Amino acid sequence: MTLQAIKGMNDILPQDIHWWHFFEQTAKECLTQFGYHEMRTPILEYTDVFVRGIGQVTDIVEKEMYSFSDALNGEHLTLRPEGTAAAVRCVIQNHLLHDGGKKLWYCGPMFRHERPQRGRYRQFHQLGLECLGFAHAQADVELILFTATLFKRLGILNNLTLHINSLGDSQERQQHKKALIDYFENNIHALDEDSLKRLKSNPLRILDSKNPNMQNLILQAPKILDFLQDDSLKHFDLFKSLLDDLGIAYNVNNRLVRGLDYYNRTVFEWITDELGAQGTVCGGGRYDTLIESMGGKPSPAVGLAMGIERILELIKISKYTPKPQKYIYILQSGAAALSFAFKIAQILRSHHFNVLQHTHLSTEEQSLKAQMKKAVALQAKYAIILNDMHMQQATLAIKNLSNGEERVFKHTDFEANNNNDNDIDALSIICDYLN
Ligand code: HAM
Repeated sequence: MTLQAIKGMNDILPQDIHWWHFFEQTAKECLTQFGYHEMRTPILEYTDVFVRGIGQVTDIVEKEMYSFSDALNGEHLTLRPEGTAAAVRCVIQNHLLHDGGKKLWYCGPMFRHERPQRGRYRQFHQLGLECLGFAHAQADVELILFTATLFKRLGILNNLTLHINSLGDSQERQQHKKALIDYFENNIHALDEDSLKRLKSNPLRILDSKNPNMQNLILQAPKILDFLQDDSLKHFDLFKSLLDDLGIAYNVNNRLVRGLDYYNRTVFEWITDELGAQGTVCGGGRYDTLIESMGGKPSPAVGLAMGIERILELIKISKYTPKPQKYIYILQSGAAALSFAFKIAQILRSHHFNVLQHTHLSTEEQSLKAQMKKAVALQAKYAIILNDMHMQQATLAIKNLSNGEERVFKHTDFEANNNNDNDIDALSIICDYLN
């Protein structure tokens, strides 16, 4: 039997990698502009990091974690299902907040044992941002502005709707929870099996149910916004008015509760209806008590994570095409040409003219015609041709494969040397041409 990848864990193939690079490069540019710094945590953590961080009574901790005992010493370990708990563990352990707030980001694979389907995988990738030590609603808005900026540059902003809600603080949530339990107990006959389980443990999650038979009941349920006191209301109002000032449209969605326990006050999701059932491409919110509950000094925080697979699918659907990479294919025939071809490939690669994404040198002993076919198949933008005649005349030809235009250059044009301004000029002419 042929060996297979694990279900829900996907290879990323060479023909698709440019989508990932497009996302990563665009995101990195935005992150730098917004003053975020990268952090990297291990993929494996002690299980407790996630149990204490995400909450015992959540889908992730109850049934989706890849956990195991280390065969050598019996320690309980878990493949990270998300990044926030691990980031907070790292921030506390390394005293990163000792000199004030930090704006951090991470990117990488996460693991959840879910039923695989379109947009829902067992290994998936997230870009996460954690803004730690900032209590003001301005920090919440800046995160939203970051996402709107990034989604615009990725060409998908118009395919997404921002949903926001406030979950209040713990006292307000307690009162809301009590009202929810009373309400659902009075309607217990209408609850499905999942909701009956959640009734005592985490009634807020009943609001998350997708069961069509329960939607009416959920619609009438007590709303958290009716339980918010002055401070939480002020925070939410300021959040909304700053979004208004920035012209960022949103829906206040009372049913938005999020699947992780650490949230309070602001929560949000960016949702599309173009990806079927898994339409949430980004989610986050405030988690002002998590750092303290995981053993750190009390510090407010807010963050988000986006699912990169879902975003890439949306980019493809939205027909946005990243600029094609420039690809230069060097064709050669004869021993002298091969040796010179190596040399010019290396000159082009090492020059700082920003013209080349890839320089591919054909090293096979094939006819120039066969090599040209390969260049075309690779969708190269230019072919540099070195045949016997060129070698005798110390020239080479550069052919633009999109319009067929061909120009001949002298070998000396390529022999740039930092001591000689004229040579650099000659090389820059070639690079301009290749641009
Ligand atoms: P989350 O909502 O669990 O939040 O995940 C964030 C995003 O990851 C989702 O909106 C979705 O796009 C993607 N995602 C989640 N599960 C899967 C899956 N099985 N397959 C594909 N994509 C998936 C968090 O993880 C929080 N840590 C976000 C956060 C950061 N909150 C504060 N800071």
